[in-house]
Amino acid sequence: MPTIIVTTRDGAEHALPANAGMSVMEIIKDGGIDELLALCGGNCSCATCHVHVAADWLAAVGAPGADEDDLLGSSDHRTAASRLSCQIAFTPALDGLRVAIAPED
Ligand code: FES
Repeated sequence: MPTIIVTTRDGAEHALPANAGMSVMEIIKDGGIDELLALCGGNCSCATCHVHVAADWLAAVGAPGADEDDLLGSSDHRTAASRLSCQIAFTPALDGLRVAIAPED
């Protein structure tokens, strides 16, 4: 089973099972991590699913789209590694992906 590695705000790492067709947000929520609020349910309208992608995964994950980029602009914790996890579709190429949940805005 493919996995992603998620670092929560307390610094703990969690290996979560991942299936193609899920978003990274869905994988994190299904993995039982509640601190990722994802209030809009994946509709790219809340920015509460903000994660920081590990540097060596940035190229594989790619850049945010225009709407996502606008939303990320409202976060005090935006970095060059910022993505909204609901906008990252998991594929087998992302097996082993590492992301950290961004601090709460
Ligand atoms: S869940 Fe709301 S923007 Fe991702």
